[in-house]
Amino acid sequence: MKSTDFSACDLVKTAEGEISREIFVNENIYEEEKAQVFARSWLYVGHESQIKKPGDFFVSKMGEESVILTRDQKGEVHIFLNSCTHRGMKVCRYDEGNTRTFTCPYHAWSFATDGQLVGVQDYENAYQPPFDKSEWGLIEVAQIGQYMGTIWATWDKDAPSFEDYLGDAKFAFDLGLCAWDGSDSGTELLGSVQKWIVPCNWKFIAENFAGDALHVVSHRSVDLARLGPSGKEGRRDDYGKLVLTAYPQGHGVFFGVVPLGQTRTEYAESKITSDYFQHCWNQRLKNLGENAGTCPVVGTIFPNMSFHAQQPRTLLVSHPRSANETEMWRVYFVDKKAPDEVKKFLREYYIRYAGPAGMTEQDDMENWNYATAASEGTIARRKPYHYKAGLGVGGKHKTVPGIVTEHPVTSEQNPRAFYQRWAEYMDLGSWSELIDAQKIRGGAPI
Ligand code: FES
Ligand code: FE
Repeated sequence: MKSTDFSACDLVKTAEGEISREIFVNENIYEEEKAQVFARSWLYVGHESQIKKPGDFFVSKMGEESVILTRDQKGEVHIFLNSCTHRGMKVCRYDEGNTRTFTCPYHAWSFATDGQLVGVQDYENAYQPPFDKSEWGLIEVAQIGQYMGTIWATWDKDAPSFEDYLGDAKFAFDLGLCAWDGSDSGTELLGSVQKWIVPCNWKFIAENFAGDALHVVSHRSVDLARLGPSGKEGRRDDYGKLVLTAYPQGHGVFFGVVPLGQTRTEYAESKITSDYFQHCWNQRLKNLGENAGTCPVVGTIFPNMSFHAQQPRTLLVSHPRSANETEMWRVYFVDKKAPDEVKKFLREYYIRYAGPAGMTEQDDMENWNYATAASEGTIARRKPYHYKAGLGVGGKHKTVPGIVTEHPVTSEQNPRAFYQRWAEYMDLGSWSELIDAQKIRGGAPI
């Protein structure tokens, strides 16, 4: 239920390409976001490779709140709020590990990895009259979704299935989360999670990776520094023709479409790396056929999970902390079967590209942080942001589903689609209304 009386549609005017600065700086709006967006949408929680064995756990976040992703003794995956049902203490204060129980340090209640309350210190003497322990297990999410190794959850039992929530953006996951050779033999995390805090609103990050094609100008210095795996000028390898794609669910993806005859010898650091990527490319052609050349370069799944699906292959969750503070969590993927030398080569490239030490990420963070600070003032808030590039020009593409613009440098359609959906979450009270709104807009250009 909404607790404030503003209408998000008055602040987000996608038909005019204007969005109020209030949605990026106003704490009341942020408070509303926590209930309307983060308590209802599907959120990325972790990856299967982080909980391989029974008892493995990984402490993640959903919005501001700490959650435990764990695999119980029977092998089932669970996600619990990391808060004791007795008096709220955090029951797990480690980042990851393996356990049979989560024992709360406050009054020593113990919870099994399936969430059941299995131990209460001095239960017979201290807790009279007795209570039904089966009613006091850990608070569990309403639904869990697993897709190609990624694990998601929602607190809302009425939310659609995860695959319906993804909609046609599934196409990006199918081509981007598979092994680099296009097989389903799998990817794994390289190390663990990089975490750091930035003084900006979380939506700057989400819209950037949903497809802000115009900001690449701010990476000119790192392009000159030749950050890419090829060592040539640029940050990444050549992605061919760029295709910008928006989805009515609020997701946005940038695809690169490369000619199928292209080789991958530009990964020329050594014969091993070069041969590996060429081998993968040859296999990709066999495994994916005409889709092999279509690669999701970067995208955002609404609201706050962003990914790069080529090289680099990395995933970022922008966990909100307040209107002007966000905790960024980034993980990096490699193919399980890649030679060690390839994994080392990619680790070094990923770290110089992204994360708190990554030069490209530093450019982006500087923009988001200063934009947030410079939009907080009384005078600044009077002028909306400009999102007018390529208004209403999107159409259909022969292979890539969604609302497509093939000239991405002339369109801000993906940020507009993201904010249109954001406004619907903020204004509409139920999932049935959200689904109706999504159907009404469908694939119309934005
Ligand atoms: Fe956890 Fe009391 S708060 S046992
Ligand atoms: Fe950038």
